[in-house]
Amino acid sequence: MKILITGGSGFIGQALCASLAQDGHVPLVVSRSPERAAKQLPETAVVRSAVMDFVDEAPEAVVNLAGEPIAEGRWTAAKKKALLDSRLEATRAVVELCRQASPAPQVLVSASAVGYYGDQGAREVTEGTSPHDEFAHQLCRQWEAAAEPAVEAGVRVARMRIGLVLDAGGGMLTKTTPMFKLGLGGKLGSGKQYMPWIHRADMVRIIRFLIERDDLDGAFNASAPKPVTNAEFTRSLGRALNRPAVLPAPAVALKLAFGEMSRLLLTGVRMVPQRLEQAGFEFRFRELDAALADIFRR
Ligand SMILES: NC(=O)c1ccc[n+]([C@@H]2O[C@H](COP(=O)([O-])OP(=O)(O)OC[C@H]3O[C@@H](n4cnc5c(N)ncnc54)[C@H](OP(=O)(O)O)[C@@H]3O)[C@@H](O)[C@H]2O)c1
Repeated sequence: MKILITGGSGFIGQALCASLAQDGHVPLVVSRSPERAAKQLPETAVVRSAVMDFVDEAPEAVVNLAGEPIAEGRWTAAKKKALLDSRLEATRAVVELCRQASPAPQVLVSASAVGYYGDQGAREVTEGTSPHDEFAHQLCRQWEAAAEPAVEAGVRVARMRIGLVLDAGGGMLTKTTPMFKLGLGGKLGSGKQYMPWIHRADMVRIIRFLIERDDLDGAFNASAPKPVTNAEFTRSLGRALNRPAVLPAPAVALKLAFGEMSRLLLTGVRMVPQRLEQAGFEFRFRELDAALADIFRR
């Protein structure tokens, strides 16, 4: 299959491209820096700078991952605009490709995030839970809505509300592991906030599952079935690294340091992948300890 991927050079995208190429699929990757991206991707990947550069290739599936990094730096007005604009532009471009390509792709698998739900306290969150209205929700709501018009072009659309993706070489562990290795790890704020985590290998498997299963559309929570609190996460990571995690970061300090972005660290969502499990998706990593052991063994 020819599979168009925006953001294919990123943390999830690189692992997805490697997995697809290994099985003989051809990743068609959109990147703002095609030469740099090509060096990070399998040899069979084709890299170009705009989505519409691939319209004549008639990709059979589209995976939309591009977006300005959300957990880096304070959410100034300019940063919020970049977070939203980058996602809306990429998503509108893939919808335009869906309209113009002949034949149209069969499926668009489009990223969204756990942030769709906003702060949910300790209650269990399925795809049917009402969101809490805050910036992360507004961002994800507009991002998801931008993908929907592809349906009118006859394309099946699956939206993934992605949790915290875990692996070496990127994502949240790259930020937290160095502190833990120095013995400076600890829970954030009360530690009671839930963290819906997912191993990157399962994230890639979910994307491929949603491409392959032609009966699935709509929103899917993309995180492991057993979310943990931040305090539990902290203990697990300390165990995996053989370092006690004893230095808590007080909420007030995180708020001062990161402003509104600290909500990503201090609020939580006990998200469960109800629709994926109902559809028969089998997670390879259900337990956080097993996921972290796998990551740090490699
Ligand atoms: N990783 C997670 O834990 C997580 C959790 C929830 C949701 N998500 C979402 O899933 C998607 C993929 O995640 P990821 O971790 O793979 O992201 P990532 O490593 O940050 O990669 C995203 C890609 O998007 C492109 N990009 C970055 N800034 C951009 C901008 N301003 N305009 C246009 N393109 C831009 C970059 O590609 P080029 O530089 O090649 O153009 C980058 O490789 C993201 O949209 C992210 O928000 C990720």
